[in-house]
Amino acid sequence: MPAVDKLNNLYRQAEKAVDKAVDKEQIEQIRVKYLGRKGEITSILRGLSDLDPKERPAVGKLANELKNKLEAAINDKLKSLKAKPPAIEALDVSLPGKKPNYGKKHLVTQIIDEAIQIFLGLGYRVAEGPEVETDFYNFTALNTPEDHPARSLQDTFYIRGLTDPDREGEPVLLRTHTSPVQIRVMEKQKPPIYILAPGKAYRRDVADPSHVPMFHQIEGLAIDKKITFGDLRGTLEIFVKELFGEDRAIRMRPHYFPFTEPSAEVDVSCGLCKGSGCRLCSGTGWLEILGCGMVDPNVLKYGGIDSDMYTGFAFGMGVERVAVLKYGLDDIRMLYDNDQRFLEQF
Ligand code: DAH
Repeated sequence: MPAVDKLNNLYRQAEKAVDKAVDKEQIEQIRVKYLGRKGEITSILRGLSDLDPKERPAVGKLANELKNKLEAAINDKLKSLKAKPPAIEALDVSLPGKKPNYGKKHLVTQIIDEAIQIFLGLGYRVAEGPEVETDFYNFTALNTPEDHPARSLQDTFYIRGLTDPDREGEPVLLRTHTSPVQIRVMEKQKPPIYILAPGKAYRRDVADPSHVPMFHQIEGLAIDKKITFGDLRGTLEIFVKELFGEDRAIRMRPHYFPFTEPSAEVDVSCGLCKGSGCRLCSGTGWLEILGCGMVDPNVLKYGGIDSDMYTGFAFGMGVERVAVLKYGLDDIRMLYDNDQRFLEQF
């Protein structure tokens, strides 16, 4: 076989071997076999002087070229073997694991869940109503006069073009409180009624440190024979102490709500200064947390309940406000910025 053909064959074999090699040892064997001192390509270069002088230049040139080419192929292969260590070395079972980033309940949901647990323990059940409400359930049935400021366009989101299918011409709106759930429950259920109704409410407020246009309330309603103001006070005392801590006190101040008579606002003693007065409680020692009262007989009538036979109490509490007071938040809007660094602290 002419030396040139022999060289080309050798090179092809060597190239295939390099390609198949899986480690440094195999590569070294190939190098010795073809390019070592007694290697097959080396031998051809050494034996040039034995060749026909006419063949010599071409064979010499080709042998050098293939020698260089094979060296380059060997170096490339060594590099790629280094870059890709065998799989067994890549798996270090002693390394610490990567912990997945898991979510948690939003603070507002946590407070609602806590309130539900407390009232389930007192024999209440959870009720719900629509967020898109009618003027009747949100205002009229709650004894709210036609000229009450809450009914104004400035305070309430009315839904343009939608009217109550049951009361021709009356507007549909986003409920401004969870109190309409009281009426919806009374219509469906005869006393005794003991319900807790958590949910969203909407008001046309511009967001600022203490207002957001969508917020949450927890409504409570108890209707039974011989329900008294003492029952209301006792129930709220248990609730507030469970929610804020045994060491906290409550006080009730007379107030006015259209749907209760008498009505009161409830304060909890300030947890930051323990009642001596500080920035959080504006120096009063008390924090206002909810509104309540004895259900007005007119409201019972709207709900189809005999107000001679039954009495009841109701209350409504702002959930975001409880979050602000419980954790001393500076700005209610932080609850809705969805910054995980803030939310994951609770
Ligand atoms: N609905 C009232 C509000 O949004 C809160 C409230 C006050 C609810 C007294 C009640 C209640 O059930 O009896 O400000």
